[in-house]
Parts: sequence; C-alpha cells; structure tokens
Amino acid sequence: ADEPLILGIETSCDETGVGIVRGHTLLADAIASSVEEHARFGGVVPEVASRAHLEAIVPTMRRALDDAGVTLADIDAIAVTAGPGLAGALLVGVAAAKGYALAADKPVYGVNHLAAHVAVDTLEHGPLPEPAIALLVSGGHSSLLLVDDLATGVTPLGATIDDAAGEAFDKVARLLGLPFPGGPPIDREARAGAADAIPFPRGLTAPKDLAAHRFDFSFSGLKTAVARWVEAKQRAGEPVPVPDVAASFQEAVCDVLTSKAIAACRDRGIETLVLGGGVAANSRLRALAEQRAAKYGIGVRVPRPKLCTDNGAMVAALGSHLVAAGVAPSRLDLPADSAMPL
Ligand code: KG4
Ligand code: ZN
Repeated sequence: ADEPLILGIETSCDETGVGIVRGHTLLADAIASSVEEHARFGGVVPEVASRAHLEAIVPTMRRALDDAGVTLADIDAIAVTAGPGLAGALLVGVAAAKGYALAADKPVYGVNHLAAHVAVDTLEHGPLPEPAIALLVSGGHSSLLLVDDLATGVTPLGATIDDAAGEAFDKVARLLGLPFPGGPPIDREARAGAADAIPFPRGLTAPKDLAAHRFDFSFSGLKTAVARWVEAKQRAGEPVPVPDVAASFQEAVCDVLTSKAIAACRDRGIETLVLGGGVAANSRLRALAEQRAAKYGIGVRVPRPKLCTDNGAMVAALGSHLVAAGVAPSRLDLPADSAMPL
C-alpha cells in the first residue's frame, strides 16, 4: 500500500506555500511570494502579507494539486502552520486548511513552523537521526533546538535575544545600499571581499555572556557596529568597501552560529546537526558548519536552498511525519497562535 498523501499549507510570513508529499517524497511545492511588495519598506509589512495570502492561497493550492497530479479527494491529511508567525498571515492558512478539511472530510494537523523547518530535511536526506541539534536561522527566528523526537520532542536550547540572523542580513544590506531581502546580495558581495578585513563583534561569546547565554544569540550589537563603521567611512569621505564589509559581517554571523551549534552538539554528545531557515541558504554558513563539524565527527544536513526558506513542503513533511508516528490530528477549531511554543 502507498504511504499517505499529505498536503501542507504555509502562510506564517510572506510566502504562501502549498506542498504535497508522500512519505519522504516531494510531489509538489507551489509558492507565491509577496516579497517584492515588501521590498520598498525594507521588511515584511504584516497587513500587506495577509492580503497577499488571501489572494494567493486558492491559486497556489490549485497549482500544487495540479503539479502533483492529484485532487483534494486523494489527499489523506492536511497540515498547516498554526504558529509562530504573523497573526493575520497565519489566520489565512489556518482558515483555508479548515475549509478544505471540512469540505473534503480530511483530518487537519496544526503544526509548529520551527519544527517544520527541521522536518523538511527528511525530504532531501530521509529520516532524521535522533537526537539531533537543529540550527534555525531566518528573518523571523534564530534558534538552536534539541530534536529528541521530531513528532513530539523538539525543545529550544537557545534563541536570539534581539534581532534574528536574517533580520541582521536585511538591515546590513539596507545600510550598504543592497536590495531586500539582504541575505542573497550580501552572500554574493562577500565572495569578492575579505572575511578578516574588519573585526566585527561576536555577540554573546564573551565568558561572562556564555554563563547565562551559552546557546543564545545577539545580532543587534553587530548591526550597530557595522552601521558605525560605515558611517565613519562616509563621514571621512572615503568609499565604503562593500565586499569587505559584507564578508566581515557575514563571517561574524556565521562564526557565532556555527560555534554555538557545534558546542550544543558536543555538549549533548549529538552527531547530527541540521540547518534550516532562509539564512541556511548562506554559502559561508554551510561551508563553515561542515568544516567545523567534521573535526568532531558531526554530520551536517542542509536541505537545498529552496527548501530552507519558507514553503509548503516543509509543513507537508512534518505532517507526513506526524501521521506516520500515529499522532492524533488537531481539532477543527484549532487556533492560529502567533507565539506558539514548541
Ligand atoms: O525562512 P525565510 O524565508 O523566512 C522567514 O521565516 O523569515 O528566511 C528569510 C531570511 C531573510 O532575512 C533573508 O535575507 C535570509 O533569510 N536569507 C539569507 C540568504 N538567503 C536568504 N541570508 C543569508 N544568506 C543567504 N544566502
Ligand atoms: Zn521560517
């Protein structure tokens, strides 16, 4: 018999995603993004995102079903991101999932967005060895998670105490006159720059900070340091060496992220590190994580960039895992929870 066919809906931020999987096999990953509508604001505007989800959800749903060559009747369960995320944006996905579930008489699973970022890796690399450590870095979150059991046991070890890593990329890009979202252009510029050109600070790595914040991150001081450095250049009437600033900033972020992620693995005796979230698409982060992990025999799993950023496939992947693990579906009155804990 075939494994169950699971549809996943994601609307927690600015991507409207509908993915369809069977077991660990990805059949469709339809996505509509409102990122261009947010670009002129330099960040995601919640009201704009909600409206864009409303317009995109039905066509994206239709496209996913077409791409997979199935109909709603063929689907065995619907999974949807119930949180965390933008309240109004989440509501669109949750309402759509309930509507489709009710109309087609399917079970619905409200899932956690962060756990879904971890689960998506199973579509690329198969079942996740447990326990694992997950480093999730995106525009909205930067978390280090302990994954004892993907279905029921994901716990936070640490998180950012101010800006998310992706937010820092976006703000520094803006400072350098690069387009939004800032991660990809910084990644590109950094290739022509020197990572050791400017010694930017590594947040929460001093011994006094490590005591209370061993697995937490802070990127707001780094962002300010970059801003001050750039302003000083401009005041002096000197050109800003964009590639060097990009490379040095990127190195500071990746250095802290990878050293803390690997410290978490070593602390718990864990041999698998999973990266996820939009910033996991960063080429330096991937290279540095692999280089440092290899020293301790830790294996790094990173899904391809398209699966690292928000999408419906990740939600379907987690839904598929929950169904396979025999977890009961959610009630049809499941709420969207913008601050949903793990
Ligand atoms: O996971 P995601 O699509 O959405 C959120 O849940 O936030 O992540 C988007 C973030 C943005 O801040 C973007 O600048 C960042 O991921 N990003 C990158 C790269 N590609 C996307 N950051 C660094 N390097 C990249 N190559
Ligand atoms: Zn995300």
